[in-house]
Amino acid sequence: MSDGNDSKKPSTNLDRAAQLLNEAEFSIALTGAGVSVESGIPSFRGPGGLWTKYGEPPLDGYQRFISDPERAWEELLKPTEDWLVGLRQTLGRAKPNVAHFSLAKLESLGAIGALITQNVDDLHRQAGQRELYEIHGNFKLLRCVGCSKRFSFENFPVDVKSLPPKCPSCKELIKDDTVHFGEPIPSEVLASCERVSERADCILVVGTSATVYPAAGFAVEIARRGGTLIEINPEPTELTELATIFLGGTASAILNDLSEKILRLHRSG
Ligand code: OAD
Repeated sequence: MSDGNDSKKPSTNLDRAAQLLNEAEFSIALTGAGVSVESGIPSFRGPGGLWTKYGEPPLDGYQRFISDPERAWEELLKPTEDWLVGLRQTLGRAKPNVAHFSLAKLESLGAIGALITQNVDDLHRQAGQRELYEIHGNFKLLRCVGCSKRFSFENFPVDVKSLPPKCPSCKELIKDDTVHFGEPIPSEVLASCERVSERADCILVVGTSATVYPAAGFAVEIARRGGTLIEINPEPTELTELATIFLGGTASAILNDLSEKILRLHRSG
């Protein structure tokens, strides 16, 4: 039996997700390590994850940095831990994949108003994402612990004979921008994440185990107040039971299809 409008009715979860994103007042995305797996960067948890392979690093990483910044800087410039050496090389070589480009396309189509990422790999920026909040920092940047000013790691004059480097503006300690265990999220980034998630009535969560807060909390909060939660992940996560739609599969395949569907919805008016 048909009412003649079947072609307009969403038939699959992907169709429904495209329609919900399209209809939302203000959608945001939250991404995690899973979006960069297809760029060759390992995730943290699960099979092949860094923490699975090497164990979680000490939970007081930030305290260690602050209590002996000279030593921390020596390790930063010449990492000795195997996982860090490998990760640094991988991050330096990695390029954005279809998932990053599809998210940038969703932004240019107006289907996403902002993106919060837990990744430090810079790949969303390289793919052209504009309204981007890197809640755990960016490995290409340094940050002053005093005034929060950021600098390009590559161009910052680091004198290896006089570590740690100091901020040219306020003379406070400079550290890498990556947020260490035990370190507070930089307040201006956190405020931006809170501002966009408070406004959002829909969140697209991609490639995160959703175990780390406050990032996971933005999705939980939006779902709890009745917003739409669309989750993309090959495996169910702690968020899945809150999800309006769970799309099981890899970020690149699903985001590519989703952005194509939204483009078609736009073209068909
Ligand atoms: P996790 O390693 O915890 O989770 C990665 C998620 O990606 C898992 O749920 C996988 O199922 C999923 N995944 C794997 N391959 C995928 C693919 N091709 N497409 C889509 N999803 C895929 O990484 P995060 O949730 O990002 O924090 O971890 C959060 C934080 O924990 C990190 O930012 C890091 C870590 O401690 C800091 O370093 C401060």
